[in-house]
Amino acid sequence: MGLPARIGIVGCGIISSRYIEVSRELPEIEIVACADVIADAAEAQAEKYGLRRLSLDDLYAAPDIDMVLNLTPPPAHFSVSKTALEAGKAVYSEKPLAATFAEGRELLALATEKELRIGCAPDTFLGAGHQSARLYLDEGIIGAPVAANAFMMSRGHEYWHANPAFYYKPGGGPMLDMGVYYLTALVNLLGPVTRVTGTARATWSERTILSQPRRGEVIQVEVPTYVTGVLDFACGAIGTVITTFDTKASNLPKIELYGATGSLDLPDPNTFGGPLQLRTAEGESWKELPLRLGHAGNSRGLGPADMAVSAVEDRPHRASGEMALHVLEIMEAIHVASETGRHVELTTRCDRPEPLPEGVYEGVRPAPG
Ligand SMILES: NC(=O)c1ccc[n+]([C@@H]2O[C@H](COP(=O)([O-])OP(=O)(O)OC[C@H]3O[C@@H](n4cnc5c(N)ncnc54)[C@H](O)[C@@H]3O)[C@@H](O)[C@H]2O)c1
Repeated sequence: MGLPARIGIVGCGIISSRYIEVSRELPEIEIVACADVIADAAEAQAEKYGLRRLSLDDLYAAPDIDMVLNLTPPPAHFSVSKTALEAGKAVYSEKPLAATFAEGRELLALATEKELRIGCAPDTFLGAGHQSARLYLDEGIIGAPVAANAFMMSRGHEYWHANPAFYYKPGGGPMLDMGVYYLTALVNLLGPVTRVTGTARATWSERTILSQPRRGEVIQVEVPTYVTGVLDFACGAIGTVITTFDTKASNLPKIELYGATGSLDLPDPNTFGGPLQLRTAEGESWKELPLRLGHAGNSRGLGPADMAVSAVEDRPHRASGEMALHVLEIMEAIHVASETGRHVELTTRCDRPEPLPEGVYEGVRPAPG
């Protein structure tokens, strides 16, 4: 893979526009082609953004495409990523890495066998908010980590998404769909988790779509929609995470991190910017901390850009398949713990990704000088 890495998108739905627009500000990647099982969906994006519209077979076979950007719904992530790896392409997938841990593990094994890079969303932890938090945390601003709380309280995607059924099918649910942002952010800050327990249930067996164009259609719910997990981090900290599509309103924070000498109130991990707030043992109120590097806007695409640079520089990329597989195992294990009434020991570990350096950015790298 050279720079810019040449990317073909598979899956031309809602999120594809964001990736295409952000890629134009990232010199490390160039989106050149797109494909979809619905040819019209690919045609529409090809025409709007000046891309080559290819059939799926032609995209996987194209010799001038280095990386497949997998933007399909979660149930298709495994088969699309597998086909791309078998065709010799690096893969960057939307989250989760796969619908099950077993499938995710198979993808990583295949990537290793083929000596190809595999990366996975979310890359929001590479944004200014969470990278600044990482710099402050590592400098000791709150002392040794004690615990973290993460809360994703929502009404469900049937309120706004045009095609929300997949969020209630295997591979969806609030933990795999949204908890993945919170857990990736926590693993970036605190490192890997050793064991989990949890409780989960599907509060309602049916959901009615409230958005257009499918308003009134009924979705059969096949996954838990209120999921609570408890995490033991290898560093000793304890984490609590709640993700749900079943609450109409909540005042809970997104993520708080508690250390021996203070607390951090972290930004929404589904965004790239702030606010990032600190309160120390001596402080009388919360104060906002300055962000210390770039990418505070919606920058989906930093992950594949960092993967492209890392391949050229022969170092690990940050939004890695290893971290995504570890997070997928955590999420699945919380559900298994609920079903079996026990703690579940995790089998995977991952290193915390290297923090991005402080500074002004051009693409995914600090600007020279
Ligand atoms: N919509 C968002 O705001 C958002 C935000 C962040 C991440 N994501 C993630 O991005 C992914 C896609 O979400 P979306 O909202 O764009 O979905 P979408 O339903 O709008 O689009 C998905 C597209 O993939 C195509 N597709 C399905 N199976 C395929 C296959 N096997 N091969 C080729 N194309 C196939 C569909 O025809 C569709 O055009 C999901 O994993 C989702 O979790 C979405």
